[in-house]
Amino acid sequence: MSHLRKGVLIVFEGVDGAGKSTQVKLLYERLKRDNFEVIATKEPTDGEWGQKLKKLIKQGRGNIAPKEELEWFIKDRYQHVEKIINPGLKANRIIILDRYYFSTIAYQGSLGFDPLEIERRNVEFAPPPDLLFLIEITPNSGLQRIKKNRGKATDFFERENYLLKVNKIFNLINKPFLYRLPGNEPIQSLSNRTWAITMRYLKQRNLIKR
Ligand code: TYD
Repeated sequence: MSHLRKGVLIVFEGVDGAGKSTQVKLLYERLKRDNFEVIATKEPTDGEWGQKLKKLIKQGRGNIAPKEELEWFIKDRYQHVEKIINPGLKANRIIILDRYYFSTIAYQGSLGFDPLEIERRNVEFAPPPDLLFLIEITPNSGLQRIKKNRGKATDFFERENYLLKVNKIFNLINKPFLYRLPGNEPIQSLSNRTWAITMRYLKQRNLIKR
């Protein structure tokens, strides 16, 4: 096993169809093969709030107010942090997240909530990532990919004009831990990039105990 001196949080973000889930899986498998203790997890979760959210995403917002939707994402994340993220970090594991509070900033920010206020509420309880990979793609190519891969209709969050607003907010994010990656690149070369950045991070900070 390659043990670490501290837990490491790696987050993948991007609009629907950017290829996050594929990249999460590839980085997870590569870290496993290299004997790191790694957990891959995603939001919305399978918890009570996450399940309500998944229904909303699939069936449409109906009479659920945007404010309620925002609160559900925050409650879902609170449980995720308490049950999985914080314990994993404490056990010095690498945690890979498929979406985190940057999604709330961008997606619920696009519904009219102040992105800075959303961020402030999240960082009160959610630890910041060590690395944030933002996979960039135009909403149009993302949606085409979804239709091709799933072979079925897109869900209620996957609308081009909504995702254009989401991307505008993603474009404004500026953090020392942020890496913007080209979502139109071949899967393997993108995966090589996330691997190289992760290894450089672990080595530069001398986080690997040998
Ligand atoms: P996604 O990971 O794309 O689901 P799937 O694997 O089924 O494609 O996430 C579901 C949707 O939830 C996606 O459209 C983005 C949205 N979302 C928010 O609006 N706010 C959030 O805070 C999070 C975590 C996700």
